[in-house]
Amino acid sequence: MKKYIIKGGTALAGEVEIGGAKNAALGIVAAAIMADETVTIDNLPDVTDINVLIDTIEGIGATVERVNRHCVKINGRTVASVHADNDYIKKTRGSYYLVGALLGKFEKAEVTLPGGCNIGSRPIDQHIKGFSMLGADVKIEYGMIVAEAEKLCGAHIFFDRVTVGATINVMLAASLAQGNTIIENAAKEPHVVDVANMLNSMGANIKGAGTDVIRIKGVAKLHGTEYSVIPDQIEAGTFMFAAAATRGNVLVKNVIPKHLEALTAKLYEVGCSVEEYDDAVRVIGNPVQKCSQVQTLVYPGFPTDMQPQITVIFALAQGTSTVTENIFDNRFKYVDELTKMGAKIRVEGNIAVVEGVKGFTGASVNALDLRAGAALVLAGLCADGYTTIDDIHYIQRGYEKFDEKLQSLGAVIEIVDNDRDEQRFKLKAV
Ligand code: EPU
Repeated sequence: MKKYIIKGGTALAGEVEIGGAKNAALGIVAAAIMADETVTIDNLPDVTDINVLIDTIEGIGATVERVNRHCVKINGRTVASVHADNDYIKKTRGSYYLVGALLGKFEKAEVTLPGGCNIGSRPIDQHIKGFSMLGADVKIEYGMIVAEAEKLCGAHIFFDRVTVGATINVMLAASLAQGNTIIENAAKEPHVVDVANMLNSMGANIKGAGTDVIRIKGVAKLHGTEYSVIPDQIEAGTFMFAAAATRGNVLVKNVIPKHLEALTAKLYEVGCSVEEYDDAVRVIGNPVQKCSQVQTLVYPGFPTDMQPQITVIFALAQGTSTVTENIFDNRFKYVDELTKMGAKIRVEGNIAVVEGVKGFTGASVNALDLRAGAALVLAGLCADGYTTIDDIHYIQRGYEKFDEKLQSLGAVIEIVDNDRDEQRFKLKAV
């Protein structure tokens, strides 16, 4: 089983290039099958979740040409089935965007129920509510979401809670519905805006994405386009926090600094320096960092996908910090793994009380989900000695060449497959 091995203690230094946003790309790849012309998508991250989705749309008949690792051409004219189900797609979350895309285009979709990281209960009631209001009959049968409409018609939808997934999914379906749709209490995340921009470049008529009211005028069909995915806010944030946690100095390139403001603000609070450029940010981690507090919120608040990573920073800061998780109900499982490395964290309900320690010590830990896994890598980079992280397939779902990018910043990290590789790494890293 492949794992990361890390020899901690190096302050990261240098420059790193951020790839396309995974969670935008999931919506964008699904949207691409809605046209009967070629859609070229660039700046795609080469990560498992995206590759599985691309394989799945190819599996239902879409014509897919992989131009290079980050660019794909998709033509939905050849889609021959509305039934999307395979062993891999079951494990991902973004599969549910195929419901919106297929329902919009064919007024029928049968898509396996979404998997994704185990970070608490993840209902899809708001997706179902949205599709139902557009006139679809939606059932959960044999592990599938089955949605069908005689005619998809625009509707006035008020989400009961802010959800990225349901906002994007309803936007997809409503783009090809008859008449006007209004989504109230919509999610405002940058990836919602990116999917809306991409749909508009295919001829959709979506206004207001990025605010909490999105208005969609249904159009008869969508056409081909060329589109480049926005930079990944969470990958960028993870490298920014890696620089801070290791007390390093890293220029994080190809980012939209505006999307990172909640993260930048926290870095200032703990006493790091952040320099902002047009499309880059430099983070300089001060040797002594202060405690603070954070609450995860919907955009533009602090993102839940950066919660485990900021906990690592707080765990090495002076004083006691608090981390409140408001989005998912079970996103602190990684705390037990951090504790094995010497962190002092007490979880009470949705709040983690983090007492700063002087340092971590290397240990064998498990990546329990994507962002928790990334946080353990950050902890390993700061720890004295060797850390091994199992189940790195979670991390590879959302971080492209994570180990190689970190190596380029001076980190001593490798993927190893067996004990012999591990021993070889340790001899080399001494
Ligand atoms: N929710 C409902 N009902 C619904 C939909 C959501 O109650 O029908 C709840 C969820 O259980 C959660 C909250 O609403 O408590 C927010 O869920 P949201 O729909 O916004 O999240 P998601 O679509 O399941 C996406 C990302 C997550 C990211 C969240 C929040 C994808 C594939 N996943 O999940 O990304 O944490 O938005 O920003 O886009 C990750 O990349 O590591 C990841 C988990």
